[in-house]
Amino acid sequence: MQIKLWINNKAVIKEAEADLLLIDLLRNNGCYSVKRGCETGNCGLCTVFVDEKPVLSCSTLAARVNGKKVTTLEGLQREAEDFGTYIAEQGAEQCGFCNPGFIMNAIAMFREKQNPSDEEIKEYLAGNLCRCSGYEGQLRGIRAYLEYQQSKAAKAELAAQNISEVI
Ligand code: FES
Ligand code: FES
Repeated sequence: MQIKLWINNKAVIKEAEADLLLIDLLRNNGCYSVKRGCETGNCGLCTVFVDEKPVLSCSTLAARVNGKKVTTLEGLQREAEDFGTYIAEQGAEQCGFCNPGFIMNAIAMFREKQNPSDEEIKEYLAGNLCRCSGYEGQLRGIRAYLEYQQSKAAKAELAAQNISEVI
């Protein structure tokens, strides 16, 4: 069947066999950030956004994304770099194999929750497996990033208030 989708905001029309997986469609289109880990829906490494929601591309048929917008890490460079710096500062990166899925899921969480508790962070990232660590460094990175985002928002609000007082 022929399907049309948007990969990182670029329209793509493809012939897709009924059993083609989304992970293969994306990798065949140059999205090599989408990694193959377990292929059983357990490690989170193959996470992408479909219409802004995180899905496991190893467990999604390409035909299911017909007419939808798919985003991979290649389409989130700025956000990924901003957040990645905080992870690196905590020395959390070891082999780095789990990073793409972890960063995708963390970005999805930042968009949904501005002030998640530690429990919420752990719940949200429970589907990501890291073979090298218990995620303590990554958690410190997430907290540091959230604090930075909150102080940036507070400063922007203060600046807006001062401007409206002057006006
Ligand atoms: S490769 Fe998809 S969840 Fe592991
Ligand atoms: S840093 Fe190696 S699997 Fe997570």
